[in-house]
Amino acid sequence: MTQKDGEKERQAFSSRSLKGVPSRLIVVSNREPYEHRRLKGRLVCQRTDGGLTSALDPVLRRLGGTWVAWGSGEADREAVSPGNSVEVPSESPVYRLRRVWLEPEEVKGGYRGYANEVLWPICHITLDRVAYRKAFWDAYCALNRRFADAVLDELRGQQAPIWVQDFHLALLPGLIKKAVPDQPVALFWHIPWPGPEVFRILPEGREILEGLLAADCLTFQTSGYVRAFAECAHQFLGAEVNASHDIIEHQGHRTRLTARAISVDFRFFSDRARASEVKGVKALARLRVGLTPGVRMGLGVDRLDYTKGLLKRFWALDAFFTRYPQYRGTFTFVQVAVPTRSEVEAYRRYREVIRHTVWEINNRHGSGAHHGAEGWRPIQYLEGRIDLYTLVAYYRMADLALVSSVYDGMNLVAKEYVASQVDEAGVLLISQMAGAADELTEATIINPYDPEGLADAIKEALEMPEEERRRRMRAMRAYLETHDVHAWVDDCIRDAGLRSESAQDVCG
Ligand code: F6P
Repeated sequence: MTQKDGEKERQAFSSRSLKGVPSRLIVVSNREPYEHRRLKGRLVCQRTDGGLTSALDPVLRRLGGTWVAWGSGEADREAVSPGNSVEVPSESPVYRLRRVWLEPEEVKGGYRGYANEVLWPICHITLDRVAYRKAFWDAYCALNRRFADAVLDELRGQQAPIWVQDFHLALLPGLIKKAVPDQPVALFWHIPWPGPEVFRILPEGREILEGLLAADCLTFQTSGYVRAFAECAHQFLGAEVNASHDIIEHQGHRTRLTARAISVDFRFFSDRARASEVKGVKALARLRVGLTPGVRMGLGVDRLDYTKGLLKRFWALDAFFTRYPQYRGTFTFVQVAVPTRSEVEAYRRYREVIRHTVWEINNRHGSGAHHGAEGWRPIQYLEGRIDLYTLVAYYRMADLALVSSVYDGMNLVAKEYVASQVDEAGVLLISQMAGAADELTEATIINPYDPEGLADAIKEALEMPEEERRRRMRAMRAYLETHDVHAWVDDCIRDAGLRSESAQDVCG
């Protein structure tokens, strides 16, 4: 992004600023939005991957404030000022990023262990991937305490609205309230919440629930997750839940429960998709993935995470090219796979299986010198990070996008695809197990566990009449234009009372 672009973007965001919105807002998450690295001796600032940071960065750009997060970049310490903070984004700074330094044991046991090998698979109900160790819990507590110290330091004895993000920081509301009981704290849980029959396997279930219930407001992606959380709080803590499942009382403290589906910056993606840079990138991108004229394109964009159902997607593509051989050579599926959590064994193994499966399918159905430039491969597998222009170019080009998560709190790729479909000609296929399927009802809803059914759905998408494709895409775009990430954050902040009349003095 050029400096000029950055400035234009910043103005666009600030023109949407809300009257009275807190500029002292403190957002807290484990993952930081920008990391610093040394590239050929030069200090560079890069965006990080994942739905949480890509959704919240535009929000902070609009509202300003402070984002407290783990300083995970190898050169992060070189970039901060004495208060451990740095102004971001680097091309036109609009908010403060306060970095938290974690000890290696906190990263290993707290983030990789308890968060990624215990809470993540439990919440996504992939129970054979749970790799619990008692020591992980101690490290998770230490990680949360480390964040609490940083947040309390940021407060400097004054109140400010605190908005905590996600499952890495479930104990943080409790720790903050213990130190400053009147301090308003809200938390957004980005991933699914399981029912009591699954949650019961977590040895520290009570502590996690109590840490969360210290918040004044807890928000989940869907009302189904709200109900599941309320049932757990009732069953395991004896907390009182009202009939509409929106207030929980535990040990004299009331917590409001709400459901708000996170979204994307619709205008940003839509404008980007029309930008002249994207047109140039489109031609290059077609070349890169070997799409000769007339070949149609399917697209998947995912972190290399087992919850995204990549293997099931490839089995379905295998079934598709077996059942419908007429599509060999005329349809290519482009899979962008962004490496993630590669220090965790389950993720490393998953990546190996994925690579091997792609290789097998390409060998089975590919034609000509398919390892060379002239041949055709059913799956073009691109493992690695991808820049924003290329990503948007792929979104705009793709005749269909496929989201096949086996379980997913929301899935923002689905929403980014719709926002980038300015020609309104593409088809979205989305798993019934992804939160976004509840909202994007004009998409083709698929079952990732049924490869033949999914193969047929791909064929139907490719053969769907143009008029119907446009009607569906237009409806989803109209929905997302109003239900964008800015509407989401406004709703969450309002739910939490972080800028209500009574909290004006708090919000500043
Ligand atoms: O959206 C869920 C989430 O776990 C975020 O909390 C996280 O930042 C993102 O996925 C990517 O994962 P990680 O931070 O472990 O790389």
